[in-house]
Amino acid sequence: LAIEGMQWGDEGKGKVTDFCASHADIVVRSQGGNNAGHSIEHHGVRYALRLLPSGILNPDTVNVIADGVVINPKAMLEELRILSEKGISSYQLLISKRATLLMPYHIEIDKAREEALGDKKIGTTKNGIGPCYEDRASRLSLRVGDLLDIESLQERVESILPLKNLELKAYGGKEFSVEEIMAMLLEVREALLPHIIDTTAYLQKALKEGKKILFEGAQGAMLCMTYGTFPFVTSSSPLATAIPNNTGLPLTAVEDVLGIMKAYTTRVGAGPFPTEIDGPLADSIREKGHEFGTVTHRPRRVGWLDLPQLKYVIEISGIKRVALMLLDVLSAVDELKLCTGYFIDGKEIDYMPSTVAELEKVEPQFITMPSWKEDISSIRNYDELPLNCRRYLETIEEKLGVKIAMVSVGPDKEATILREELF
Ligand code: IMP
Repeated sequence: LAIEGMQWGDEGKGKVTDFCASHADIVVRSQGGNNAGHSIEHHGVRYALRLLPSGILNPDTVNVIADGVVINPKAMLEELRILSEKGISSYQLLISKRATLLMPYHIEIDKAREEALGDKKIGTTKNGIGPCYEDRASRLSLRVGDLLDIESLQERVESILPLKNLELKAYGGKEFSVEEIMAMLLEVREALLPHIIDTTAYLQKALKEGKKILFEGAQGAMLCMTYGTFPFVTSSSPLATAIPNNTGLPLTAVEDVLGIMKAYTTRVGAGPFPTEIDGPLADSIREKGHEFGTVTHRPRRVGWLDLPQLKYVIEISGIKRVALMLLDVLSAVDELKLCTGYFIDGKEIDYMPSTVAELEKVEPQFITMPSWKEDISSIRNYDELPLNCRRYLETIEEKLGVKIAMVSVGPDKEATILREELF
């Protein structure tokens, strides 16, 4: 099963992943880095995870950080340290030799670039994600497997670092010495070595043995480098269709894609957002939904549910079932709006605009629906939801042509209406 965020991230994937992870033999993280962040609850304690897969709290689950991930080794070890402080020290973690190492200079370059872009900045998490993926594409990155041989690692650092320093110098940023970088790598190496393997070979074998594999999602489809609202996107693809290429598995490995959507829309960072709302209405949704970034604590931008955007993601990802999250938050408003179509220059369009210029011209067409005032957080049966609530969900199902398999009515694991088995 693959889990895919259908909007701009922060759809509540953590809760669903947590829900499914306990049924999985293996949990795989396939792309992105510590730009992602989700909190999961385990035996009544909340844990914030960024790079580590969600099965890490369960000693029987194998957690794989696969080929397409960018790993800030210090950030990952810090996550493990925090877990051990909370008593989690028995876990199974496998890290791909093909995964990319995210280095301190990537973070400096990310910050310097954002600064240089001024009011045209992307609004990145400043974790160095873009510069790291760029180095992979330009074949200047270090991979986890390079840690295995110190001599060739040093040679690689000696050839790459002068190029990175040239760029940092141009931005007036901090330059790095080979000694400094090598010292950092040798420091993290010992802790990482026992976990490093060829995860592709491991996953191939697991697939043949019929193991249950959960591919957890990070970010959301609209942040995809190619299909999202470019250039206001991340530097990898959060689409489930990217999983084979990020794990070394065939297309047939991903049998089922569960899309995760909120009952409304949010995004952090800059970029087009056709159904955005502001003022007191947005504030009340933001407050009720705790819509502040897990990683950066920035207030999230808020908007109405955008069906053309979701339809596009369903089509490019092959989604048939969805989990709809944070439905309880909508009792914060008196009246709901649902975007059912896009117009540009007065003409209806039937595609997702691919340029910022076009997206900025989009006039969303809304239908208005009555909201509900009841507290729905203790409801566990679909049929007990208020009528207006069910009407909202049924309109979404009908217009999108998908089944809402799960409805989340509160942050806790129990605050869930399960309409069919997920995994
Ligand atoms: P980057 O991934 O740090 O380069 O940031 C690029 C864009 O993706 C920014 O708008 C970020 O806010 C957004 N972004 C990256 N990761 C996440 C995530 O996990 N949730 C929500 N937004 C994200």
